[in-house]
Amino acid sequence: MRLKDQVAWVTGASQGLGSHLAERLAQEGCTGLLLSDIQREKLEVLRAQFADAYPHCSVVITECDVTQEASVAQAVRAGVDALRRLDMAVLNAGVVYSAEITDFPLDKWQWQIDVNLTGYFLCAREAARVMKTHGKGVILQINSKSGLKGSFKNAAYAASKFGGIGLTQSIAMDLAPHGIRVNAICPGNLLDSPMWQGQLFEQYAIKWGIPEEVVRKFYEAQVPMGRGCAYKDVADLMVFLASEEASYITGEAYRVAGGQM
Ligand SMILES: NC(=O)c1ccc[n+]([C@@H]2O[C@H](COP(=O)([O-])OP(=O)(O)OC[C@H]3O[C@@H](n4cnc5c(N)ncnc54)[C@H](O)[C@@H]3O)[C@@H](O)[C@H]2O)c1
Repeated sequence: MRLKDQVAWVTGASQGLGSHLAERLAQEGCTGLLLSDIQREKLEVLRAQFADAYPHCSVVITECDVTQEASVAQAVRAGVDALRRLDMAVLNAGVVYSAEITDFPLDKWQWQIDVNLTGYFLCAREAARVMKTHGKGVILQINSKSGLKGSFKNAAYAASKFGGIGLTQSIAMDLAPHGIRVNAICPGNLLDSPMWQGQLFEQYAIKWGIPEEVVRKFYEAQVPMGRGCAYKDVADLMVFLASEEASYITGEAYRVAGGQM
């Protein structure tokens, strides 16, 4: 219950890390959650699950494409209308597509820049506009270890996430006088996430020229702690950075990567 009575917004909340972080926010005592994503049906399912499991927490869902200015503004308006304020934004929506630079399609480049970087900018801007009126707030970007070190055959993803670090550091300065802290969390490989299960095992088998069934072991072997990142590892840092214990921390990017790099 370290985030008692807080109202939080999570983007990309319908599945994977986003839905797990939303659940942890409810467990930590948040009384209002704005959950947004482009996948409306999954949000509906989540809302029903939360109503059963976390009756203390009001959940508002909005279909929101983080790349669209009007969609982002509308989502935040809907959340603030229903929940009356916004204390925290966990900006998690993100996409990845891997290919060698000489084969990299422009549309896949643009898609990742749009969602991972422009989407973060639009959501952070909208959240900050509300938080400024409260004189406080916390913005957390879900970045990646690929936002701090280049990533093999992953140019667009790494470029978009590196950009997110620059944005985090810069807006932290803009917003510090308004009591708003901005930090980035940089997870290692979430090997059980839909992102990996749905596409990355296949894409990374191709990029490294190895059989798909050994991709998991290949990635685990790169981590000194010998395992992939778990949702809980990320959620624990999110709770700390959102709490009063982190009240002097802003403009930072923290890895949660088991010693990798
Ligand atoms: N999976 C990993 O190994 C890993 C590692 C480090 C960082 N991350 C980051 O964690 C975050 C969540 O990743 P995940 O593994 O849960 O992936 P995921 O694909 O399961 O979830 C991403 C969510 O973002 C949503 N989304 C995609 N485009 C959107 C858009 N235009 N507008 C709004 N929502 C959109 C998707 O619908 C989905 O619900 C991402 O930012 C990702 O870059 C993931």
